[in-house]
Amino acid sequence: MKRIEKCLEGCGQDIALLLRAATIAALEAGGIIREMYENPHQIRLKGAIDLVTEADIASEKAILAILAQRFPGSIVLAEESSSDYENIPAGPVWIVDPLDGTTNFAHGFPYFCVSIAYSVDKVSQVGVIYCPILDELFCAWQGGGAWLNGQRINVSGRDSLIESLVATGFPYDIQDNLAQVMSQLHRVLPAVRDVRRAGAAALDLAYVACGRLDGFWEINLKPWDTAAGQLLVEEAGGTVTDFKGGSWTPYVPEVLAANGHIHSLLAELI
Ligand code: IPD
Ligand code: CA
Ligand code: CA
Repeated sequence: MKRIEKCLEGCGQDIALLLRAATIAALEAGGIIREMYENPHQIRLKGAIDLVTEADIASEKAILAILAQRFPGSIVLAEESSSDYENIPAGPVWIVDPLDGTTNFAHGFPYFCVSIAYSVDKVSQVGVIYCPILDELFCAWQGGGAWLNGQRINVSGRDSLIESLVATGFPYDIQDNLAQVMSQLHRVLPAVRDVRRAGAAALDLAYVACGRLDGFWEINLKPWDTAAGQLLVEEAGGTVTDFKGGSWTPYVPEVLAANGHIHSLLAELI
């Protein structure tokens, strides 16, 4: 917990309680995922290529138990057990992706994370993303900057596309969206240094926040993929919008996140 103390400096007591709870939950869930990573997996299909494993379920259970104990009666939007984001009431809600990058986890590809946000009226107030394999804890609160393992982070300063490393993702319903996904890639790929499809949207956003990536875009994401990551990118000085550069909340499925220099250049291409 020492690594969030600097991030907490200057925040009020309410935010401190929320951020501590989100951090404890993310670290606990990450520990569970890390242990399960080494063992054989129980894989169930939610769709043709959309997996859920024992780790998604165990992680979510642990997170929800910690949040319920500290904030009884809270409204929670969580991918595996309460995912009806279209009917979420106004006001405060915890938004939880217990394991972002499940396909990677199931295949032993070590790029996945836990993502937890606390949001009020669709605006993220607190965000925590934890990558258990690298033991990297990203956190942010609104107005308090973005942090990685206790160090302040910022988006990159790169201002030309040809020097930029950007990332994207492919939705599970790729069959219905292949033409759009490929035409965006077709335009962006020759204009940038390279494109990654690493397989965990929340972690991709955290990587934009700390400057490892200069930009990221994807269609058909869900609030639990983006609610914490949006706050990290914005608190790190970056810009998060829809593909037209318009205002955005985690309930908008398409997202374009980048440092402020290349954001509009990417938007033009996408
Ligand atoms: C998925 C990952 C992936 C993205 C998908 C997401 P999940 O989340 O973030 O990178 O391309 O759109 O659904 O299912 O691993 O939590
Ligand atoms: Ca996800
Ligand atoms: Ca997930």
